Amino acid sequence: MIVSARMRSPMVLGKGVNEGFVASDVTALLKYTNRFLYMEDGEIATLTRDNLHIETLEGKTVKRAFTSVDWGEEDAEKGGFDHFMIKEIFEQPQSLHQTLTGWRSEEERLSRELLSARMMRVVACGTSYHAGLVGRYLFEKFTKLPTQVDMASEYRYADSTLDDSLVLLMTQSGETADTIAAAREARRRGMRTIAMTNVVGSTITRESETSLYLRSGPEIGVAASKTFTSQVMMMYLLSSHMGYKMGRISKGEYDAVQTNLRHVIRAVGGILNDISRIKEQAKWLSEARDAFYIGRYINFPTALEGALKMKEISYIHCEGYPAGELKHGPLALLTEETPIIAIISDDHTYEKMLGNVGECSARSSPVLAIVPEGDREVKRYTDRIITYPRIDPLFSPIPISVILQLLAYYAAKERGCEIDKPRNLAKSVTVE
Ligand code: M6R
Repeated sequence: MIVSARMRSPMVLGKGVNEGFVASDVTALLKYTNRFLYMEDGEIATLTRDNLHIETLEGKTVKRAFTSVDWGEEDAEKGGFDHFMIKEIFEQPQSLHQTLTGWRSEEERLSRELLSARMMRVVACGTSYHAGLVGRYLFEKFTKLPTQVDMASEYRYADSTLDDSLVLLMTQSGETADTIAAAREARRRGMRTIAMTNVVGSTITRESETSLYLRSGPEIGVAASKTFTSQVMMMYLLSSHMGYKMGRISKGEYDAVQTNLRHVIRAVGGILNDISRIKEQAKWLSEARDAFYIGRYINFPTALEGALKMKEISYIHCEGYPAGELKHGPLALLTEETPIIAIISDDHTYEKMLGNVGECSARSSPVLAIVPEGDREVKRYTDRIITYPRIDPLFSPIPISVILQLLAYYAAKERGCEIDKPRNLAKSVTVE
């Protein structure tokens, strides 16, 4: 007999054949079962081989059935890869495809009332926060709604000016305590809430009015990879859907977003087909003590995410910066031992980014430039170049992020780091 109680941290029960399990996350149990039941705060479960009884702290019996998830045992294995992280990086053409094709059923969950919002508030932590930052540009472009992105741990300290904001809570695990607390706070303030998560039945789905599912498949490596690219993809889908329903963009423009997302999936496949150049540059980067990732506009969040990925698994100190801000302080830190990873896309930021590359080279910092295929200008400043397939630049954050994930992974591998379980970190952060 196992007796378990839940209060504030996640707890899931699993049911096998003549056996039962208790864990904090379904991925820990996929090897044994795909039938789960999420406990809620203040519940006590008594689990035996063939029976389950749940009651509340007040002694009231709770009736709730086990439900099946479509994740299997193979998802909890490395399948020939050295680490879960690299397996998950390589799964991205598939996970992105699932997010895109699953969108049809997700959009049905979006009620008309959501469209009456006068402002978007996106709330998230870590990598999910970076996906939220990419989304800010997209919501402003497609819906014309002012959009603010808050770190969940800071949200409660912000005075809310508009109470008809739509609050989008992004958490791949659905169990991040800061994001759950922010969801409660948003509802207390009377805001409409919508969750975006990868885990069906997770806590955030019970704390929000509506939930959208990423369908990326389980992510086991502590560093988020495939769930990030799915979150970003869903930001394109959600913002363009809302823009279309609000009459801010045409049906043709909405359809074009989906066509571009199909090009994105092909571009990611192209990158994964030949990673030799990325491995080579990762080897070089692995010797750095500090590095800067720079980008502008929609690739400024991509730079933040690239830097987070590198520091989290390789322990190299990295900072993501809007390229235009370098001259306001960080240039003082540049030496020949401070690599710069410059993200360049072929849009209205192109000339300015070239200027930044020149500015860093002039201070003797080695620059690794991530550029669209066929670029002829950047090689005037650096011969360290990684290219990505040419697509509409608005959609470039996804393929570029895949390159940055691979750079981080191979640099960390070179340094002999414990990639799937970086020191001091947990996959789900269940404390505030
Ligand atoms: O499950 P969540 O998306 O809420 O997790 C948020 C962060 O804890 C998470 O993204 C963290 O930053 C990752 N380890 C980054 O790779």
